[in-house]
Amino acid sequence: MIALACDHAAVGMKNEIIKLLEEMGLTYKDFGTYTEESCAYPVFAARAARAVAAGECDRGIVICGTGIGISIAANKVRGIRCGLCSDPLSAELTRRHNDANMLAFGARIVGVELAKAIVRAFLTTEYEGGRHQARVDMLAKLENGEDIE
Ligand code: RB5
Repeated sequence: MIALACDHAAVGMKNEIIKLLEEMGLTYKDFGTYTEESCAYPVFAARAARAVAAGECDRGIVICGTGIGISIAANKVRGIRCGLCSDPLSAELTRRHNDANMLAFGARIVGVELAKAIVRAFLTTEYEGGRHQARVDMLAKLENGEDIE
């Protein structure tokens, strides 16, 4: 189950991503927003990120105008590692190296076809573990205010 969320700047893009998920045979939960009426991206980022952090959704995809605000918001939720990506290689590497459980991108930054390639890379790439695990563990320690040096 993929958690989806966006703000008013990215409703059309989110709908394109929904079509892609359907083509890929993946289930999703759409946490809004659903219209182009101006809204606050942290509200929608939090809904999707909390669903991922709680294990209700396996991964999440959040989209705003730049992808920046909504990724910052998602990363404020404990347990979330949200990678902001504007290209498929970054999306692949944030899975392989960071075990990112959420993806963000900007609807005003990337076109629909590029966005679809980014989403495909994110959803079809596995985490490598190994040497990356200690670094990912440090991210959790940082969330807990623990010393990582
Ligand atoms: C909305 O105008 C815009 O600020 C938002 O979509 C996003 O780009 C924020 O980071």
